Amino acid sequence: MRFPDLFSPMFGVVVLTLALFGMPGHAAPQAAPAASASAVADSGGGGSGSGSGKPVTVTGCGIPNVTHAVNSVCLPWYGIRDTIMSEIFQGRCGDNARAAVRLSFHDAGTFSQELQDNALPNGGADGSILVDPNEVLRSENNGLQNIVSLLQPLPDQFGVSPGDIVQIAGILAVLACPGGPAITAYVGRTPPQNIAPTGLLPSPEDPVATLVARFADMGLSSRDMIALIGAHTTGTQQFVNPAEANYTFDTTDTIWDTRFYTQTADNTTVLPDVYKLDSDVAFSTDPTTSTDFNRFIGQQSLWQTDYITAHTAMSILGQNAAHLTDCSEILPSSIDLTPLEETTTTGKGGGGGRRRRRRRGARTSPRRTR
Ligand code: HEM
Repeated sequence: MRFPDLFSPMFGVVVLTLALFGMPGHAAPQAAPAASASAVADSGGGGSGSGSGKPVTVTGCGIPNVTHAVNSVCLPWYGIRDTIMSEIFQGRCGDNARAAVRLSFHDAGTFSQELQDNALPNGGADGSILVDPNEVLRSENNGLQNIVSLLQPLPDQFGVSPGDIVQIAGILAVLACPGGPAITAYVGRTPPQNIAPTGLLPSPEDPVATLVARFADMGLSSRDMIALIGAHTTGTQQFVNPAEANYTFDTTDTIWDTRFYTQTADNTTVLPDVYKLDSDVAFSTDPTTSTDFNRFIGQQSLWQTDYITAHTAMSILGQNAAHLTDCSEILPSSIDLTPLEETTTTGKGGGGGRRRRRRRGARTSPRRTR
């Protein structure tokens, strides 16, 4: 099923999943002309994840309805959204969603301003990682093979560019995680012109100055980098230390909260099954980045605002923004974390996350919070 309509079973899965897992803390509805009236929808509230500022008609759980599409360019993206959210993410902030967030960085993060200035073959948010069979096999892309194979058929299937699929999947993945904000959903990226250059993706062993310089060469500030690194809030590691595979970067890896910052910066508490990347710890202490890092502790809304700016910029690296169309009208609304009472401590309580180690691929779901 590729274009599940409002009443299809597949769409019901998405609605139900978002309702059950996201409903209690769901964002307050924006004015919506005609929200749908199913029982689930009614109890979920509506809302728009749109970054465009236009009123968007939504279904009950904050999922905009294709029958009220605003921009015809965005029409195919309602079906693509449903396919990615339901068939690939299964409506959850699970393994495929977190891999999709990382994938969006690993595709876009091969952009280099210096290469561009010298008219050399360049990378960027062009979907080359879906097209070039060797790119995903590079060691820095370990762990992304599964999400790449799931997304690979979509450009041909829907007649859109691979760069759009990678970046829209990343944006939807953030929204699949409770607390994840709506990033502006641009479409219209040009296809890759060449194979992405190697050696441009950051390593956790790189010193802070190297990482700052690499992001600057992408066109992203140190502040953008520190906001973006917060995506590790949902992350796990498999390959940095295989003996601790599946360890998470914070204790609440199924939600998009600021505990990653809190817990990474806390060097006095050992949290079981949590792995801290050397680069993340260094960001929290290095004089050039620690102020930006620590300012997000317990500041969900501040982080969300900065994250939206940084991720939007990342999602169009190497593309001409003037040629892109804002299709934020397709985005489901964010799931609000306000009731979870973020703290500035190590944040062991609440949060709806998991504390037990799990098998890779095991079902994970944010808990219903009260
Ligand atoms: C200084 C820059 C960065 C470094 C050094 C870095 C490094 C890493 C490493 C080593 C892993 C674990 C891979 C594994 O062993 O499985 C990882 C995972 C992850 N990274 Fe980053 N990263 C950086 C920036 C980013 C950015 C900008 C994003 C997205 C906006 C991101 C999103 C993720 C996600 C979501 C995961 C978890 C993937 C999963 O659990 O499947 N990272 N990162």
